[in-house]
Amino acid sequence: MEEFHKVRRLPPYVFEQVNRLKASARAGGADIIDLGMGNPDLPTPKAIVDKLCEVVQDPRTHRYSSSKGIPGLRRAQAAYYARRFGVKLNPDTQVVATLGSKEGFANMAQAITAPGDVILCPNPTYPIHAFGFLMAGGVIRSLPVEPDDSFFPPLERAVKHSIPKPLALIVNYPSNPTAYVATLDFYKDVIAFAKKHDIIVLSDLAYSEIYFDDNNPPPSVLEVPGAMDVCVEFTSMSKTFSMPGWRMGFAVGNERLIAALTRVKSYLDYGAFTPIQVAATHALNGDGSDIAEVRNVYKRRRDVMVDSFGKAGFEVPPPAATMFAWAKIPEKFRHLGSLEFSKLLVEKADVAVAPGIGFGEMGDDYVRLALVENEHRIRQAARNIKKFMSTADQTMHNVVSLNAHR
Ligand SMILES: Cc1ncc(COP(=O)(O)O)c(C=O)c1O
Repeated sequence: MEEFHKVRRLPPYVFEQVNRLKASARAGGADIIDLGMGNPDLPTPKAIVDKLCEVVQDPRTHRYSSSKGIPGLRRAQAAYYARRFGVKLNPDTQVVATLGSKEGFANMAQAITAPGDVILCPNPTYPIHAFGFLMAGGVIRSLPVEPDDSFFPPLERAVKHSIPKPLALIVNYPSNPTAYVATLDFYKDVIAFAKKHDIIVLSDLAYSEIYFDDNNPPPSVLEVPGAMDVCVEFTSMSKTFSMPGWRMGFAVGNERLIAALTRVKSYLDYGAFTPIQVAATHALNGDGSDIAEVRNVYKRRRDVMVDSFGKAGFEVPPPAATMFAWAKIPEKFRHLGSLEFSKLLVEKADVAVAPGIGFGEMGDDYVRLALVENEHRIRQAARNIKKFMSTADQTMHNVVSLNAHR
């Protein structure tokens, strides 16, 4: 039977192939060290959990909530933008709460896309950036990710040669998977370009608080004067407060775009469970000490990973932000491509990583390593990989046969 139109546009999730291998290795008793999925392993801070437990006792909170977010939560998000970025937001018209930033992003795509609209999307990137728009009927044109001068010539070409003219440009810094961080000067150029060509800018700032240089916190694109005319930005509580399962995020920015998303959402959901929204408000209004602790944990893990993997012969550039390292596959194995290399690591080193190809074709020379295991296990992963790489010549017959299948 022919596949449904929308499903046909969604290729099988690349990560699923590594996940399946991981599951079967675990079922066979292997202790797989999982640096694959970006699923924070730290517990949500106790004060936030306590608030949820307190509020859930009140039966009035058990009713349908507010799709766009309760007023206190939207005010707390506006206060966060004022404090952290010096950006003034109207909580009634420029802020909407979302069921995680992923839902917000995907429904923004639904809200603004007409069939065939061209969307400029980084490659490699977090999959929802492309697939949110593909599901909404859009067409993707890929752009490089480096947030420097090299970004603009391909952007110029994309605008010149796209028919119809692109609807929107997606930016995501700190970037998943590359961990690149943008400067405010870069954003100024992006906004000037977008305004000149009348293009919407959608900024994914999910890693706003996961950075390692205290003197250089990642900026918001909305800090650029006039950005509000063309831009919406998405933030997430998943990484900042180790709340991935709670599904709480935000879209803020341009009123027309926020109104479009709010309208679509009003048909689809009743908002997150009220106790979650109240606990999220409590978190956003906190003193920031929980966030600093999360940052420190990831930073220590990053340092251990860079050091131990480097000593194992697997060079990992230190990421300046995010909970990921983006590492080129060691030369000897690069010809295999990232999926086969990732499968080999599960099978031969008991280490799971995310193959770069899962983030787009430009990622195939890389793997993404998530900082979601403790320092001890990261060191163990490095030892396993060292052993695997030093004995790979003996097991190379597998590698050669894998290569023959590419
Ligand atoms: C760049 C980026 N955006 C969005 C998300 C989704 O976050 P949320 O849990 O808020 O939906 C992630 C999660 O990994 C991400 O890496």
